[in-house]
Amino acid sequence: MVLDVSKNDLVLGIVGTGLMGRGIAQIAAQAGVTVLLFDAREGAAQAAREYIQETLGKLAAKGKIAPEAAEAAVGFIRVENDLSGLRSCHIVIEAIVENLEVKRQLFRELEGVVGDDCLLATNTSSISVTAIAAACRLPGRIGGFHFFSPVPLMKIVEVIDGYLSEEWVGVALTSLAHRIGHSPVRAKDTPGFIVNHAGRGFGTEALRILGEGIAEFYEVDRIMREAGGFRMGPFELLDMTGLDVSHPVIESIYDQYYQEPRFRPSPITRQMLMAGTLGRKTGRGFYKYIDGVVEKMPVESLPAARPMSVWVSRSDEGSHLKVSELVLRLGGRLEKEERPSNDALCVVMPLGSDATTTALAEGLNPIRTIALDTLFDLGRRRTLMTTPLTAMEVREAAYGLFGSDGVPVSVINDSAGFVAQRVVALIVNIGCDMAQQQIATPEDIDRAVKLGLGYPLGPLAMGDALGPERILMILNNMSAFYGDPRYRPSPWLIRLGVSLSECAKGHSGNSRIGVQE
Ligand code: NAI
Repeated sequence: MVLDVSKNDLVLGIVGTGLMGRGIAQIAAQAGVTVLLFDAREGAAQAAREYIQETLGKLAAKGKIAPEAAEAAVGFIRVENDLSGLRSCHIVIEAIVENLEVKRQLFRELEGVVGDDCLLATNTSSISVTAIAAACRLPGRIGGFHFFSPVPLMKIVEVIDGYLSEEWVGVALTSLAHRIGHSPVRAKDTPGFIVNHAGRGFGTEALRILGEGIAEFYEVDRIMREAGGFRMGPFELLDMTGLDVSHPVIESIYDQYYQEPRFRPSPITRQMLMAGTLGRKTGRGFYKYIDGVVEKMPVESLPAARPMSVWVSRSDEGSHLKVSELVLRLGGRLEKEERPSNDALCVVMPLGSDATTTALAEGLNPIRTIALDTLFDLGRRRTLMTTPLTAMEVREAAYGLFGSDGVPVSVINDSAGFVAQRVVALIVNIGCDMAQQQIATPEDIDRAVKLGLGYPLGPLAMGDALGPERILMILNNMSAFYGDPRYRPSPWLIRLGVSLSECAKGHSGNSRIGVQE
């Protein structure tokens, strides 16, 4: 079957006119699609139409759209007081309560109203499209069309192929997404689809870092924002979303993937949920909010101390050069000898290993050793990591030197894989595994994550930018350190990471984790 969604007389039904339904109705009407609105609650559909009219009126008043366009869009929206009013629809999108039985019931009722060639889509964010379709007479015409809130601003929509969906359904929904000005990505019906699956690494790894006492939550946020380039830190995000929403999603995806360790929830958020400290909405989450304004977190002042001299590890030539140049630029005295003097500050730059293990492996005195994260841009925020033995005066001198040009510095406790390395490696690895499982194409995974989560890059592009072989090394070292399958690298990453490090010199540069050859 083919459904031509470009035709002028396309009729789209929307059932459920809450936050999501009215957003979808607005963008469809703006694209000249006739929209029929139905809601089980009396007056709700009419209220949604008025809300859209008001919204479009405001946009026109601000000069964002032409007044005629606002008026025309509203003219495309009709309110139906009975489900039977949707009989002429070519497509119906369901945006009612998130409950499998209620959705199944609605789809069965809809099948008695619309023609057999009408496409039925669900906007569910967490229920299996297949489970909804399986209750229907014609399950092949059912697909997922998962929008994000607020719909008019979040330009991404996930088109979900259920196990029983016929090919034309995904094709038609993809075309409809383009017609209404959205960017579609196509995914298999799997827990969390793309965006909510790919987003598992960011928060859960930050929570592990916090749970291990490696850094304060606000320091993790600073590192992820400034060194990692994320718009928001993981704890700021958890506070914004609210733990009543995010903790159940974390648990649900973990369980739906049969306790996959990569998605393991944290007892920290569970306890906070029980305590009712949900985030911004309760005035207290990780941060405290007074009249909606977040409290100021402490910033350690820059120590005046400087090291007598600095010795930089030679275990990786590229990092050695980068850090040596930085030390000289900051006015430090660089030791050029193979081995450090007894007074030197020793700087190591591990990937996925902790400072202690690295110092011992390189035969350095852990009392005089500090680790620096060189995976990320050293011009935005620098992360230093102490060993449990690092002397206070060595820490102060290292901090003093590496912060002397005004670039902020975070000093964290020893951790296999700093803060940003850990979180980013998890994000890349989960993205790679989604590609391996063919949940979506690498391009769609990256686009969905950029648009849906606002990450600076999609997970595969992020891995390519930092070096797949480096991400692989971080994960392998973390796996060895923790012995936790959470950090096992995805086969997708292993194949490319290994081949890249094997033929690093002769590599043509075409093979990336975003596009495997
Ligand atoms: P909402 O609670 O704001 O609106 C739901 C509407 O559906 C209400 O107006 C209600 O009266 C109506 N309704 C409930 N049962 C009905 C039935 N049997 N027949 C007809 N109408 C019925 O919900 P919201 O936030 O708009 O979400 C709707 C759907 O979209 C849910 O499945 C949700 O999981 C999904 N979703 C929500 C997102 C969000 O950020 N709120 C994001 C992505 C998906």
